[in-house]
Amino acid sequence: MVNVGDSERAKKRLFLRVSPRQSQLVSGWASAFECHHPAPAVRCWHCDMKVTTNAPHRKLLRRGARGPAWESVLSEVRLQPDELHVWRASLACDPAKLNQMEATLAEDEKKRAQQLRFEKDRNHFIAGRGILRDLLAKYVSRAPAELRFRYGALGKPALDVEETQQSVRFNLSHSHGLAVFAFRLDREIGIDLELIRFNFATDEIAMRYFSPRELAEWRALPSNSRAEGFFLCWTRKEAYVKARGAGLHIPLDSFSVSLTPGKPEILESADSEQWSVCSLQPAAGFVGAVVGKGPDWRLRQYDWQP
Ligand SMILES: CC(C)(COP(=O)(O)OP(=O)(O)OC[C@H]1O[C@@H](n2cnc3c(N)ncnc32)[C@H](O)[C@@H]1OP(=O)(O)O)[C@@H](O)C(=O)NCCC(=O)NCCS
Repeated sequence: MVNVGDSERAKKRLFLRVSPRQSQLVSGWASAFECHHPAPAVRCWHCDMKVTTNAPHRKLLRRGARGPAWESVLSEVRLQPDELHVWRASLACDPAKLNQMEATLAEDEKKRAQQLRFEKDRNHFIAGRGILRDLLAKYVSRAPAELRFRYGALGKPALDVEETQQSVRFNLSHSHGLAVFAFRLDREIGIDLELIRFNFATDEIAMRYFSPRELAEWRALPSNSRAEGFFLCWTRKEAYVKARGAGLHIPLDSFSVSLTPGKPEILESADSEQWSVCSLQPAAGFVGAVVGKGPDWRLRQYDWQP
């Protein structure tokens, strides 16, 4: 188990408290994310702040950037055969933009949105699918509303095109108002994103989801790396099962990933020679991973602009 005293000290070391204005200076992203305290809590799990109200507040986790730079796109972006593109986007869109995006969704997507109980979840779903359509439309030179999706047996969406046609493959993940979208020509991909949550990264949960090898590597980490290591493991595993479109039908202890922060990403599975995994850090306090078929791809990262 993580020693409580150590974990408190670790949180204090990792978190940098800044005002929304400062956070804009540090990262245009941080101000888009709000932390909602679980009530009635003594401390907010996100920022370790003593909580007396339910009002959202904003905090920024200080971390170094990983991977290639996130590029702002000024002109057309084309997918090269050896490239895997990842886009990051805030799901907090203004009402006018949301209406515009909702109009591009298919009837089944609108229905799914309507079935969500909370407005915030509805808006995030609409924004997620709206942004996905906006990006895909640019890659395939079609209008967003014209795109049709089909779904795998376990729900993985794909563009509905003839088997014989070259196709843009995609996958997406969202967490706490942030989304990442991965695109590639013709070859499968999976992506996952998580906010680092200290109260979720427990021994009990690790025992339930991690392989024995992962558990041993995780337990060997110093306490101030455990939360990050936990979510590095989680996102790499999840990105792999999403690349295979299999959800939890792949037993989670049937394969292992490396999880030590700063060490290379390794996947050990019966088919590991077919896949490569790469970590993402799309915003402060979040980790992600993308898994793509083959060893021969190059990651490029972009910012989506409303
Ligand atoms: C969909 C699933 C694969 C991931 O769900 P999640 O982590 O809650 O959600 P994410 O935000 O990462 O991804 C959701 C998106 O994945 C896509 N998706 C849905 N089913 C999928 C599947 N079978 N394979 C790949 N992608 C899928 C969808 O685009 C979906 O978003 P949308 O419906 O808004 O378009 C889920 O069914 C699942 O099996 N989760 C396993 C969770 C778990 O226990 N992980 C343990 C890791 S150690």
